[in-house]
Amino acid sequence: MKLYIDSADIKTVTELLRLEVFAGVTTNPSILHRSGFSTKDRQDVVQSLLDAGAEEVFAQTVTHTRDEIVAEGQEIFEASDRVIVKVPATPEGFAATQRLGEMKIPVLITAVYHPKQALLAGAVDAWGIAPYVGRMSDLGKDGVVEVRRMREILNDSGTRILAASLREVDLVCELAEIGIHSATVSTTVAYELLNDENVTQAVADFDSVA
Ligand code: E4P
Repeated sequence: MKLYIDSADIKTVTELLRLEVFAGVTTNPSILHRSGFSTKDRQDVVQSLLDAGAEEVFAQTVTHTRDEIVAEGQEIFEASDRVIVKVPATPEGFAATQRLGEMKIPVLITAVYHPKQALLAGAVDAWGIAPYVGRMSDLGKDGVVEVRRMREILNDSGTRILAASLREVDLVCELAEIGIHSATVSTTVAYELLNDENVTQAVADFDSVA
């Protein structure tokens, strides 16, 4: 499974990227806002994340019509061919994804809550989809079951699944077990993935006799 960091906290992301365990960084308007940025800072943030060592950086459009989304996607992609444009799973978003794909600009369809959106993303040859697994569970669905359905739908297509809204390490493992291509996690979950008190204890035991 390819792992990404869902954050625009440049300092913490830089520390995590240094380990070369995470393939890149995903952002959206809420994530930018949480770190004190707005959409006007988006290109600078993307550049900082690339400079920090991200192989791939995901940045999201905020406009609503097909033409606006296409223009915004082109602008985002100008930063680097290591940038993937995130577009919410709206009707205009799917239409824009089709156009951006024709321009060889990769699009991750985001805010995915239902297998029908996987179907549509496959139909427009999106680079991938980002199902909001935790938020689906908040709505009373079984997020893993829904993602498995999406995986079946996209099986023969090139459209990947990048699971998002993952708040527990075990959920990330469960998705990896069913063959999900990638996942993005908060910096908190990233550190929970990396650290393990049993390992810490084992290392302390080794150190005490080394
Ligand atoms: C992804 O784009 C979202 O930022 C994220 O994964 C949502 O996580 P949350 O549901 O825990 O806010």
